[in-house]
Amino acid sequence: MSFDLVFFGGTGDLTWRKLMPALFQAFRHGKLPADGRILAVARETQSDEQYRAWLRERFQDVDTPKRPTEEEFSRFAEMLFYRRMDLSQPQDYARLKEWLEERRADTAVLYLATSPHLFPVICEQLGRAGLNDPHIRVVLEKPLGHDLRSAQEINRVVRSVFTEQQAFRIDHYLGKPSVQNLMALRFGNVLFEPLWRRESIANIQITLAESIGVGTRGDFYDRTGALRDMIQNHALQLLTMIAMEPPASNDADAIRDEKLKVLRSLKPFTMESVLRDVVRGQYRAGAIDGKPVPGYLDEQKVPADSQTETFVALRTEVQNWRWAGVPFYLRTGKRLAARDAQIVVNFRPTPHNIFGGVSQPNKLVIKLQPEDGLELHLLAAKGALQHDLLSPVFLDLDFDKAFPTERVGAYERLLLDVIAGRLNLFVRSDEQEQAWRWVEPILEAWSLDTSGPRPYKAGSWGPPAASALVARDGFAWAEEQ
Ligand code: BG6
Repeated sequence: MSFDLVFFGGTGDLTWRKLMPALFQAFRHGKLPADGRILAVARETQSDEQYRAWLRERFQDVDTPKRPTEEEFSRFAEMLFYRRMDLSQPQDYARLKEWLEERRADTAVLYLATSPHLFPVICEQLGRAGLNDPHIRVVLEKPLGHDLRSAQEINRVVRSVFTEQQAFRIDHYLGKPSVQNLMALRFGNVLFEPLWRRESIANIQITLAESIGVGTRGDFYDRTGALRDMIQNHALQLLTMIAMEPPASNDADAIRDEKLKVLRSLKPFTMESVLRDVVRGQYRAGAIDGKPVPGYLDEQKVPADSQTETFVALRTEVQNWRWAGVPFYLRTGKRLAARDAQIVVNFRPTPHNIFGGVSQPNKLVIKLQPEDGLELHLLAAKGALQHDLLSPVFLDLDFDKAFPTERVGAYERLLLDVIAGRLNLFVRSDEQEQAWRWVEPILEAWSLDTSGPRPYKAGSWGPPAASALVARDGFAWAEEQ
């Protein structure tokens, strides 16, 4: 199968940090279809050779195991091309079309790795240039808009040029192996399904914690904040995967229909419930791994009086028969105590304790990163003579060990899926808009509440109010249990 893959924003951070290394991994693993061309387009004037040399340099900043050797890079570089493009100029799209039609590959993927405010312009120009035949696919990187209105506007333009089948909206969390394993756990096994409901589950916690700060992205981040950056997309997508009903098949739309139903069942926020059920925070100076780090307001390109949140914890419910009354807690933040992304399913306690001592409810921990695996926490008898007290033990499934040679990174997986036309792990426009609809009342309530985010120390687990939010229901975050 032949393919052409075009990166708009070809010299941008996302392209060299994530996309090119992922493509290179696919190439190294022999997964990239052989007959492919990769074209980077950007504003600068440079030749193919200059672009290749630039990219080779950039690869020096990529994690060592993902760095190509000289020989590997030379082979990979044979697929790489560069063209200058002014994204507002129709003639530049006409030239792109000529380049693509030189050989008309089976599939042409147009990846918009640019700022989202350019998406409508680019899509309109692509449409005018006739770059929307069925063999063309368009990939849209997050953030897809800044609020419901801008997301709808992007989708309106995208839909006026491409069909939904041609539009691949990326949420890279869906490409993580552990997220695919969540589908496998729920719908490829019978064990948990009878328990996967309100009768057995006390609460569910989704934590996406990062120890890094905003780094050099201060200006972008300050306009965005944690709610838009991580909750509206990654955390809500994980929630849909946990809470959805079994789809009728493994087809993209069967899955996405079920995910959409979950988003539509989320309890809507009101001004009052935002104040009660959502905690926003902003990091102050502290220490990570024993090293001092600055506070958010001292980061580069962040205004000294910024009220942008770098932490969010919230409580919600999925209002349907399966989940009625079960709290779902979502939490994300920068400069937290650890880089730790996980979903914890806390089961209800045994109805009657015959062993004495404190009975600990079972829990299932789905670990997304840094490790990728599952832990099932149980109680067991030690076999000691003196007493009957039970001790906690856990079954630990390490997927990195179970499948050591087959693990592929999120972007690698998603890029290969786009080339192959598999939409299962991409977000449909109605899902994305519904997610915006749900977060908007939070944004509105915050804009009217001048008290601003609560400070928390870098290296902690966020403001104490986040613990209080969960404690109010008689529960605790995983690290406090
Ligand atoms: C991105 C956010 O979508 O996800 C970043 O914009 C965040 O702020 C990143 O750091 C986290 O991704 P991962 O895969 O490193 O957990």
